[in-house]
Amino acid sequence: MEPFPEAFLQKVFSKAKTEKMSTIKVELALSPYMPGDRSYPITVERGLLDSVGRRMREAGLGGRCAVITNPYVGSLYSKRLLDSLRGAGLDPVTIEMPDGEEYKTLSSVSLVYDRLLKERFERDSTIVALGGGVVGDMAGFVAATFLRGVPYVQVPTTLLAQVDSSVGGKTGVNHPLGKNLIGAFYQPKAVFIDPDVLNTLEKREFISGLGEVVKYGVIRDGEFFSFLEKNRDRLLSLKDEITRAIERACAIKAEVVSMDERETGLRSILNLGHTFGHAIEAITGYTKFKHGEAVSIGMAMAAELSFFLGLTGKDAVRRIKDLLSGFGLPVSFRGISPPDFIETMRFDKKVKEGKIRFVLVEDIGKVILKDVDEGKLKGFLSGESFL
Ligand code: NAD
Ligand code: GLY
Repeated sequence: MEPFPEAFLQKVFSKAKTEKMSTIKVELALSPYMPGDRSYPITVERGLLDSVGRRMREAGLGGRCAVITNPYVGSLYSKRLLDSLRGAGLDPVTIEMPDGEEYKTLSSVSLVYDRLLKERFERDSTIVALGGGVVGDMAGFVAATFLRGVPYVQVPTTLLAQVDSSVGGKTGVNHPLGKNLIGAFYQPKAVFIDPDVLNTLEKREFISGLGEVVKYGVIRDGEFFSFLEKNRDRLLSLKDEITRAIERACAIKAEVVSMDERETGLRSILNLGHTFGHAIEAITGYTKFKHGEAVSIGMAMAAELSFFLGLTGKDAVRRIKDLLSGFGLPVSFRGISPPDFIETMRFDKKVKEGKIRFVLVEDIGKVILKDVDEGKLKGFLSGESFL
């Protein structure tokens, strides 16, 4: 496969300081509620797990810390992380929550509070989230609320967590009435990403995360999308291009979050594919598809809807669907009736005054937010795929 020209990589990965390591900054505005600079670094480097302790020290974090993880991720990576923390003079304890989305609940949070109180953790103690998005979201929520807020860092171990959930400060847990309904915006002090940990991730989990990676190309960076197209096989086999893809995805997310931390506008573009995707997940009981797979179908549908509404050309739709399916992701699901689809999407958080709001594609790298009339949506959902 043709290598990518260095000049292009320089431009796309302008924040990368060296081939091996890059630090991206999430710039945040000052807040009257939280004095001081809340901006924070995202560091991406193979083998980084062994230097998290030193880097936490450099970020001004020290003393006691609680590593929150689950038994499986803990069995793979806790020892290295704990060695690194102790080696830098930190004093860690490990708190495990059971593995699984069903444990991302207030009851799990409460058990963590119990342990932190028993261990006499104080305001300057740090929470370290070691795991995928489930651990990260819950640990972040614990940090946001324990003693009215303690510092935390993210050490994400799934691709989805590395490119999405660990960055941006959305923390929270599920409620019996819906996912992520209880939570807080609360930013970490740092995000430490070690792409090597992806070697132990199940292939299907990894590919599901690639759905979110593709999303960044579609919403904001056509050149990055081309990079993904050209390096498909190398990305799938976790060659160095995966580090570059994580860096670029994080840089795009950092930029969007910097401009709209609390999702009053621009940040909603990160939800491309999620309006259809959430409905697919809900109707199929959250068991048939992984999140990134449902988002992949949702992105393909959003692209097709954009074509149906005359917003984009066939070529963009074709490229999006080809890239997703080239990664082994699903791009269609016909098991839902249009009325069920519409009814479920009505409950989506993006519904405004009865109209259903979508992130739609104008071109690869350019999306818009648009309210779509339910009649048109029904016509679209009742029709066949165009391409
Ligand atoms: P997950 O956290 O459940 O992890 C998936 C599985 O992979 C788990 O069984 C986990 O134990 C295992 N695992 C994790 N790292 C591993 C590794 N390196 N090697 C082997 N196995 C490993 O799932 P996820 O996809 O990472 O996260 C999904 C969660 O993220 C959902 O709760 C979703 O709501 C949330 N999310 C949050 C945001 C946000 O902005 N906060 C964004 C997107 C998703
Ligand atoms: N995952 C979407 C966001 O962080 O806003």
